[in-house]
Amino acid sequence: MTSSTVRVALRIRPLSPQEHASGETECVTQLPGVPQIVIGADRAFTFDYVFSPEVSQEQVYDDAIGPLVDQFLQGYNATILAYGQTGSGKTFSMGTGLTISVTQPELQGKYHVKIDM
Ligand SMILES: Nc1ncnc2c1ncn2[C@@H]1O[C@H](COP(=O)(O)OP(=O)(O)OP(=O)(O)O)[C@@H](O)[C@H]1O
Ligand SMILES: [Mg+2]
Repeated sequence: MTSSTVRVALRIRPLSPQEHASGETECVTQLPGVPQIVIGADRAFTFDYVFSPEVSQEQVYDDAIGPLVDQFLQGYNATILAYGQTGSGKTFSMGTGLTISVTQPELQGKYHVKIDM
């Protein structure tokens, strides 16, 4: 983790079946070894973390969220929020989607300290 008190993680979701069906293609390119992406040809952005479409809920949690929950339990304030346009994966990433089946352990999350805005 960096020492900044505000950290931003970018999670890139996979194309949806509808997007595949209508011929959409990925427009985000990840740069290897650094938390950076390029949109289109030349618009680069740097984050504290970048999670590719293959990254699991558990890995997102372990890398970006778990340490904050541990600090929270030691008495420090922590706020975790999901931000993005509709359909970008906020509810999915927070594990609060009503359609998520509790029979899928990978999607259940680990704690109930979650805020989805
Ligand atoms: N990382 C992911 N892997 C697989 N599917 C995903 C992922 N992220 C999102 N999805 C799927 O994409 C769709 C949209 O995600 P979601 O409902 O979480 O978006 P949202 O940001 O909460 O949108 P809204 O602002 O409308 O509430 C859902 O069908 C969800 O299951
Ligand atoms: Mg949502």
